[in-house]
Amino acid sequence: MKTVISTDRAAAVELLRKGDVVALPTETVYGLAADALNPIAVAKIFEAKERPRFDPLIVHLPSREWLGRIANFPAGDRRLTLNLADKFWPGPFTIILSKREMVPDIVTAGLPTVAVRFSAHPVFAEIVGELDEPLAAPSANRFGHISPTTAQHVMDELQGRIPLIVDAGRTEHGIESTIVAVRDGRIAVLRRGPVADEQLSEFADVVGVAVTQRISAPGQMPSHYAPTTPLRLIDKAEEFFAQKNQRVGLLAWKSSGNAPASAERFAAVRNLSDRGELREAAAGLFRYLRELDALGLDLIVAERVPAYGLGAAIMDRLERASQR
Ligand code: TXA
Ligand code: MG
Repeated sequence: MKTVISTDRAAAVELLRKGDVVALPTETVYGLAADALNPIAVAKIFEAKERPRFDPLIVHLPSREWLGRIANFPAGDRRLTLNLADKFWPGPFTIILSKREMVPDIVTAGLPTVAVRFSAHPVFAEIVGELDEPLAAPSANRFGHISPTTAQHVMDELQGRIPLIVDAGRTEHGIESTIVAVRDGRIAVLRRGPVADEQLSEFADVVGVAVTQRISAPGQMPSHYAPTTPLRLIDKAEEFFAQKNQRVGLLAWKSSGNAPASAERFAAVRNLSDRGELREAAAGLFRYLRELDALGLDLIVAERVPAYGLGAAIMDRLERASQR
């Protein structure tokens, strides 16, 4: 199959309507979308990604009206759930709800729950709105690989397996949506993302789920997001010394002001953010990991970033990338 990168939204709608898969931009990462109500179309997502069938997908709404058709609200937590939806939708935010009959089992991997998101990306919103059917869309990478933040990344991952990649440039946030479940008046964060714990805690108590325990859904296993090059976390680049003949790449938190020294000690250097901004760091994280991974290095060392706000979500990804 020939894979095309284009900006043709009408072609995307047509392919989706006839049960094909299409890679689409969202504000977080590129997704591989199919009509969520068509089990055969959804099966093509699993095939293209080589994703195990036991790993459930996120369903993206065409509009808020669709919410009540595909999911039920937790009775006691209805108000809190609606408040979260009102505040963070459309946006980089996913809520686990109990699923209604209409959602095929292949989408939820047989779970009684469904992950629901409502994307704010103008291109995604236009396509799903035009289709007027919910779209199942996981990140558009092969299973276990790093999520794509450009159309070219998707091409590198899925070339020959899908017909179309809709290009809208680099994604804004660069990391996947925050996933929450509301239980007994509390917000359980299943995956950290652009909506930070600090923002959620304005609504209710937030209970985090430790990385190693996060196996309630298989895609949240510790070793997801792994580059093929071993990755180690360090506090400061200055304190790291490579072994003789070892080619090491540095993923720095911010520019050290001592670029010549870094250039001498590392085979390659990428600064997540020159000014030390977490938003900028998140947006570039997966791209830099891909770039460093492509260099055939012996090791990537990544500096820890401050673990508050978006930094907690970045640290989650880095910790998982270091666990292989
Ligand atoms: O930003 C995002 O969320 C991107 C864009 C494309 O929307 N999508 C994304 O999907 O990251 P994916 O499939 O790569 O990650 C979804 C995660 C998986 O770890 C999956 O196991 C979990 O959500 N998940 C899906 N349904 C679930 C459910 N019913 N209960 C618990 N976890 C669920
Ligand atoms: Mg993924």
